[in-house]
Amino acid sequence: MEPYETILAAAPKMEPARQQYFMEQLKELVAEKSQEYGRPLTACIQTFGCQMNAKDSEKLLGILIQAGFTASEEEASDFVLYNTCTVRDNANQRVYGRLGYLNRLKQKNPRMTIALCGCMMQEPSVVEKIRKSYRFVDLIFGTHNIFRLAELLFLCYIRNDMIVDIWDGTEQIVENLPARRKYPFKSGVNIMYGCNNFCSYCIVPYVRGRERSRSPQDILSEIRALVADGVVEVMLLGQNVNSYGKTLDTPMTFAELLSQVAEISGLERIRFMTSHPKDLSDELIEVMRDCQKICRHLHLPLQSGSSRILKQMNRVYTKEQYLELAKKIKTEIPDLSLTTDIIVGFPGETEEDFEETLDVVRQVRYDSAFTFLYSKRTGTPAASMAEQVPESVVKPRFDRLLKEVQRISSEVCGKDVGKTMTALIEGVDSHDPALVTGRLSNNLMVHVPGNASDVGTLIPVTLTESKGFYYMGKKLP
Ligand code: 5AD
Ligand code: SF4
Repeated sequence: MEPYETILAAAPKMEPARQQYFMEQLKELVAEKSQEYGRPLTACIQTFGCQMNAKDSEKLLGILIQAGFTASEEEASDFVLYNTCTVRDNANQRVYGRLGYLNRLKQKNPRMTIALCGCMMQEPSVVEKIRKSYRFVDLIFGTHNIFRLAELLFLCYIRNDMIVDIWDGTEQIVENLPARRKYPFKSGVNIMYGCNNFCSYCIVPYVRGRERSRSPQDILSEIRALVADGVVEVMLLGQNVNSYGKTLDTPMTFAELLSQVAEISGLERIRFMTSHPKDLSDELIEVMRDCQKICRHLHLPLQSGSSRILKQMNRVYTKEQYLELAKKIKTEIPDLSLTTDIIVGFPGETEEDFEETLDVVRQVRYDSAFTFLYSKRTGTPAASMAEQVPESVVKPRFDRLLKEVQRISSEVCGKDVGKTMTALIEGVDSHDPALVTGRLSNNLMVHVPGNASDVGTLIPVTLTESKGFYYMGKKLP
């Protein structure tokens, strides 16, 4: 190999050429190490958090595989990368907990290289803590520069010192880098990055930066390539997909994008995540109603049922507006499944505010709801609000809400027993190898007798029994 400084100096300045160059350079280095060890070099990525992170991890793994790594388990890996989340404090605590374990692994295998990336690394206090107290970490990068993994890992190997590369933000969207999908038959597709909403409790806009939409051409050609590669279902990903396209040179709406995606032949199902109620247009409801490829599922985060708290949260809608929207959607698309996110214990939340949340839950009758204890995120406006609610008050509310949500969803989810619906079979059941697990258009799961050859196929299934959150079913004869 040439001297490292020559290699660095010869790197192209533009992306993605620069990363393609570093993937090649890293590949040589990996091959050298692999010869030295007498075996292939192994790598593992652990993903924390949301579907955006899951998608990022597929891209990161794609880069590693292209550079010659073999995917492996954490315990047996030469390179371990944690793609972190910081949306709530328990996500951070899980990472710190696992780092202790990684340290012990590294003591047993000193050749192990440890890297951290993702949302948590965009917080300066986290990076400071790791620099100080977790010296065994070799590489830290953030959310804006994940496409640079090959370059950073190359530097890490040749410099033998902790490499930290965190960007405050970026305008850049780097296309055409590899990805290694977890599922051959379905895939997430980023349509936008970042968030401009600044809900007062949320750290996402600070760690994922300003909203940037990918061009429709790039999105459509990625989906066409995925379909050619066997994908039948895509999940369009963005923090707030309903504001897609506003900042493009030629602006377009999310509903327009959806219609264009739906025209791709061979693509059977389209999902998307997440919708902000304030931006959900009539045009979108119509496109969903009229296009059967678009799955009968809408995730519509409520956060709180109290208009007073919603205002404090900077959600820009009232309880009444949300209820009206939910009603309109259900009227237009009666078989649509509605799910939501709810936060309990936002600063200043009173018993009356909480009752308003319960009231919305009872009126909307969600198919399911993710419920969260409010978590104070340093740097957000809510963190410095005076009236933080004590845990002794929040926890009982949380338990009451959860009970109500579960009671309603088990009633709602039973309603389709006896019907025949199409399921995309996603895998063999982990508990019973005689069953396979499929996902219905409305996002509920169904277990049916079958085997591995069913995986990735769309089949009609009769729902024979409701188990509360999922169904048992059988294939048609
Ligand atoms: N505390 C609790 N839940 C939060 N969420 C976002 N920020 C916080 C926080 N500080 C929840 C919201 C969001 C989901 C992804 O996470 O409900 O919709
Ligand atoms: Fe956070 Fe609100 Fe943006 Fe969602 S829309 S990521 S809750 S700021």
